[in-house]
Amino acid sequence: MNRDIKKVLYSEEEIIERSKELGAQITKEYGEAGRSPLLVALLRGSVPFLAELMKHIDLDVQYDFMDVTSYAGTETTGEIKILKDLDTSVKGLDILLVEDIVDTGRTINAVMSMLKNKGANSVKIVTLLDKPSRRDKDVTADYIGFTVGNEFVVGFGMDYNQHYRCLPYIGVLKDECYS
Ligand code: PRP
Repeated sequence: MNRDIKKVLYSEEEIIERSKELGAQITKEYGEAGRSPLLVALLRGSVPFLAELMKHIDLDVQYDFMDVTSYAGTETTGEIKILKDLDTSVKGLDILLVEDIVDTGRTINAVMSMLKNKGANSVKIVTLLDKPSRRDKDVTADYIGFTVGNEFVVGFGMDYNQHYRCLPYIGVLKDECYS
């Protein structure tokens, strides 16, 4: 285990197992509706989860990426700046936003509104982790891997100053590593 990690919250095996369950649920629900979602992953944290999850969705799915950031000083208004937009129009598409974590909910809430305004037929959210204790926007993910408390989690895409993203598990960072 990485020496900066206090404890492992979810092992690689547990993440794969949960991704299989989520993939099956997504396959069933979209499949029954005769739809196939465009997976839209928000860079960069969601990449490992996207790569795992999509293997378990038995539909003709496509995927694309967006990169967004909060405008300096406007964090609480939820305004976001698009650093990289989708390559195609979302008009009439069923979008499934893929996130590593929903924390305050500001990012996903703003992206969701934007995609709806651009004419998406539906916008849903799948997130590996949900941290509801930090929420300040009224947003709930449709598919949730695990619900965590207010701990500093890293790994499986999640970082601290760009480090730890490549850990194959989700762990809690030791206090002395970020304070
Ligand atoms: C993280 C994470 C979510 C967002 C969640 O992204 O990937 O997109 O923060 O926080 P929120 O619910 O409070 O908006 P970050 O901006 O750190 O970029 P990253 O994906 O490149 O790590």
